[in-house]
Amino acid sequence: MANRTLHGEDMLTADGRAEWQSRDAKASALAASPYKKDFPLLATKPDLAFLDSAATAQRPAAVLDAQRSFYEEMNANALRGLYDLSVQATEAIDNARAHVARFIGLDGKKDACDIVFCRNTSEALNLLAYSYGSLVLKPGDEVCITIMEHHSNLIPWQQACRAAGAELVYMYPDDQGVISEDEMRAKIGPKTKIVSAAHVSNVLGVANDVKLMGKIAHEFGAAMIVDGAQSVPHFPVDVNDLGCDFFAFSGHKIFGPMGVGVLWGRHELLEAMPPFLTGGEMIDAVTEQTAVWAPVPEKFEAGTQDAAGIYGLDAALSYVESVGYPAMEAREKALVAQCMRRLAELDFVRIIGPADPAAHHGVISFNVCTVHPHDVASILDMDNVAIRAGHHCAQPLLDFLGIDSCCRASFAFYNDSADIDRLIDGLNHVWSMFHGQ
Ligand code: ALA
Repeated sequence: MANRTLHGEDMLTADGRAEWQSRDAKASALAASPYKKDFPLLATKPDLAFLDSAATAQRPAAVLDAQRSFYEEMNANALRGLYDLSVQATEAIDNARAHVARFIGLDGKKDACDIVFCRNTSEALNLLAYSYGSLVLKPGDEVCITIMEHHSNLIPWQQACRAAGAELVYMYPDDQGVISEDEMRAKIGPKTKIVSAAHVSNVLGVANDVKLMGKIAHEFGAAMIVDGAQSVPHFPVDVNDLGCDFFAFSGHKIFGPMGVGVLWGRHELLEAMPPFLTGGEMIDAVTEQTAVWAPVPEKFEAGTQDAAGIYGLDAALSYVESVGYPAMEAREKALVAQCMRRLAELDFVRIIGPADPAAHHGVISFNVCTVHPHDVASILDMDNVAIRAGHHCAQPLLDFLGIDSCCRASFAFYNDSADIDRLIDGLNHVWSMFHGQ
C-alpha cells in the first residue's frame, strides 16, 4: 500500500487513494457517534466519555419509554389476574419471552418456555449451581471452569462443590488469552459433570471457544454452561450453533434495564431440575406438607416478576436488531483498534491481554506504571472519563496475571473517537500529575 506520510497523497495509486479515502471515511464516522442521540444520558452529557459499558451499558430512549409505558398503560400483576390489564401484562411477558428465544437462535413459539427470567446473570448462574449442581454432583465429581471467570460464575461453583464434596478444576489461558484444546482436554474428563465458562472475559475481552469446550464436555456426558453476559452486547449468539446446554445473560449489559436477566436451558434439563426459589407462581398445587411444581419456566420464576423490566428488555433487543450486529461490531472493532493503537503510543501504559485488537471484544484492560488503578480512575473522572478500576470481580484471574488490580476501558457501539481522545488526554494528565511533564 502506498504510504501517505512518505509519498504524499498525489503519489498514491488509485487503489491506494481509494483505501485512504475509505480509511478517512471510517475515521470520520468514528469521530462523532450517530448513536449517542438515541441515549438520553449520553445526549445530555456530551462531554462525558463513558467507557464502562462492560459494567453496565447505557439505555436508549426506546427502553426507557417502554418501561414507562408499561407502568402507564398496562400495570398489573402478570399471571395473577383475569382482567384486561393483567392479561396485557401477561402478554407483554409472553412476547418478550418469545423475542428472547428468537434473539438467541431459538424458535419463538416452541422454545419460549425454556427462557427463564431472573434478575441477572449472577442469579441465573446461582440457580444453575444450586439446582443443576444439587441434581448431578456427587462426591468425587468435578466442575470445570476457566480462571477468567467473573466471581458470579466462580463462587456459585465453589459453593456447589463444597456442598456435594466435588472438586472445582480450572482451565488456564496462554499469554494471548487462549484456552487451548490441549488445556481443555487436560481438565475435562470422566469425572467432569459440569463445564461452565465465560463466553467473553470481562477483563481480557477474549472470547473463549465455548463450542469446542461444549463438544469435549459432551464427550464425557458433562453439561456445558455459557456465561454470555459479555458476549451478547457485542456479537450475535445462536445457542444451537454453540451446542451448549445452558446460556445466561443480563439485560442491563445489552442496553436493557437493570434487574432483568435471562437463563436459557435445554428443556429436558430444566424439567429435571428442582426449583431454586420457592413461593408464589412457581407451583401447580400446594397442600399443608407438599407442593407440586409448575412446569418450566414458571417453576423457576417464584414471586412477582419485574414485568416492566422484561418489557424494557424486549425493547432493548428490538433496538439492537434495528442497529444490527454487523454495524455494532464494525464500529466496536474499529474503536478498540484505534484505542489500543493510541494506548500503545503512551510508554507509561501497559495493556493487559492479547496483542491483537480483534481479540478484545469491547474491553481493553491496562495499567499506568507506578500509579494505582483507583488513582487513575479518580483522576480520569475529574476529566469526565468513566472507566472501571479494581479487581473487576475476577480476583483469581488477576492473581493468575500477577496483578492486584487494573484499569478497564470498555466500549459499546455508541462510543466514538472523541471518547478515546478524552481517555488519552486524561491518561497524559494522570501521568503529569504523578511525574510532572
Ligand atoms: N460484571 C460487571 C463488570 O465486569 C459488573 O464490570
